[in-house]
Amino acid sequence: ALQGNNAGALKGVHALVTAGPTREPLDPVRFLSNHSSGRQGYAIADALIKLGASVTLVSGPVALTPPAGADFVPVETARQMLKACEEALPADVFISVAAVADWRPARAATKKLKIKGAGSEHPAMELIENPDILKTIAHKRKNRPDLVIGFAAETHDVEEHAEAKLARKNCDWIVANDVSGDVMGGAENEIVLIMRDRSERWPRMGKEDVARQLATRIAVTLGDGGAGAKL
Ligand code: CTP
Ligand code: CA
Repeated sequence: ALQGNNAGALKGVHALVTAGPTREPLDPVRFLSNHSSGRQGYAIADALIKLGASVTLVSGPVALTPPAGADFVPVETARQMLKACEEALPADVFISVAAVADWRPARAATKKLKIKGAGSEHPAMELIENPDILKTIAHKRKNRPDLVIGFAAETHDVEEHAEAKLARKNCDWIVANDVSGDVMGGAENEIVLIMRDRSERWPRMGKEDVARQLATRIAVTLGDGGAGAKL
């Protein structure tokens, strides 16, 4: 286990992190997206770098400066995010913090949609499913990272929903976020860390503290032989 000075605990480890929302175009000036400040993902990337990891940060559009030292890959759509993640493999650990849009408009117009005038019909938007990036990476036969960590924002039955997600997406851990309160876009998070055989509720703390604690746990786990090993 890690003790004292942790700097260098993740030396030689490649971490792939997604953060922020995705944007799914409807036409050149309109898009469908999710709420996401990117703050938790960027803090995790930063905490991993501080432990010596080499970090690829694949990020949707946010108003943050990428952490110094990150290999930064800006993207917009879920499909671009998946492609960038696949190109960044192999990685030892994948942390999927991005708020990926579950659906995208079935068709993106190449020209701006125009209002047709009073009394005309309003346009209908057909949605189709986006790829699930976490699920795709976690199910890779070749190149599956040793440790795959998903996030889950839940408003109710937090542990139950998160455990189901862990199984469905073949993750090793799910960081379940209780968003019933006021954490969305805020400075703090209240999380339950779900592992395959147990879970832990962490006290409410700043997103930077969540990031540091998580980075330390990742270092301990990879150092002890991966998610299959007992801590
Ligand atoms: N995720 C992803 N690609 C998607 C959707 C989600 O990589 N197309 C990832 C997120 O980054 C997160 C995890 O999957 O790590 C869970 O996302 P969440 O939205 O909570 O779960 P969903 O499976 O999309 O289910 P729902 O939104 O219905 O709760
Ligand atoms: Ca979702």
